[in-house]
Amino acid sequence: MVSDKTLPVLAILGGTGKEGPGLAMRWAHAGYRIIIGSRQAEKAQATASELNEKLGVTTVQGMENEQAARLADIAVLTVVHTAHQAALEGLREALQGKILVDATARVDFRDPRPPEPPSAGRMAQELLGPGVRVVAAFQNVPAHALKKNLGASMDTDVLICSDDLPAAQQVMALAQAAGMRAYYAGGLDNAVVVEGLTSILISLNKHYGTKTASIAVTGIDSR
Ligand SMILES: NC(=O)c1ccc[n+]([C@@H]2O[C@H](COP(=O)([O-])OP(=O)(O)OC[C@H]3O[C@@H](n4cnc5c(N)ncnc54)[C@H](OP(=O)(O)O)[C@@H]3O)[C@@H](O)[C@H]2O)c1
Repeated sequence: MVSDKTLPVLAILGGTGKEGPGLAMRWAHAGYRIIIGSRQAEKAQATASELNEKLGVTTVQGMENEQAARLADIAVLTVVHTAHQAALEGLREALQGKILVDATARVDFRDPRPPEPPSAGRMAQELLGPGVRVVAAFQNVPAHALKKNLGASMDTDVLICSDDLPAAQQVMALAQAAGMRAYYAGGLDNAVVVEGLTSILISLNKHYGTKTASIAVTGIDSR
């Protein structure tokens, strides 16, 4: 797949872990230019090289989170949930004027429980201010599923929450490009429920011995 220069450039901040590279692979495969962000440029470059090699592309770059955020049209936050606030503090200036997609689910894998409100997305919006359009999404999409069968549709739906509907619609297009069904699910305060669903999905994975439990919406014909 050749990159499409008409598509937005995507930065994946904290893109060296599990969820970030999974999302990056799907979008790079769909023709997006990707910048992997990290606290360390060398670590980001190593992940970028790995993804380019796996996908047979040259469109994935790696750099420090702040520079990645500055160069992107849309930034996606996939730092470990305990670093959510600290990571955003350092990126406030770089993110002004952009869409920030927040994939954070504040759930401890060892003891999964739903988090207290406000949602991580609401906290991000408060911290970043009105100059950043925060969209909460992908909190229920398992990293394991992202890396399988690239190019094929995924058996997962994405609930997308934002106070800014046009921004949410841009992120719905990203989810669709990555092979997921996407639904607008209301404002940022609703995203705490979406984070809480991750607690249920982790519990399902533990009980049924799987790694890919996700969610599906019924009753809506979104095609
Ligand atoms: N894993 C999943 O299946 C999944 C599914 C849905 C949503 N999520 C959400 O996606 C996010 C990432 O999950 P993950 O499993 O990919 O996490 P992870 O692998 O544990 O960590 C992701 C990245 O966070 C960065 N990081 C660690 N400590 C940091 C700090 N103090 N400050 C800034 N960055 C720090 C690291 O990047 P550098 O060391 O390179 O800076 C690391 O590679 C979480 O919010 C999680 O709730 C995960």
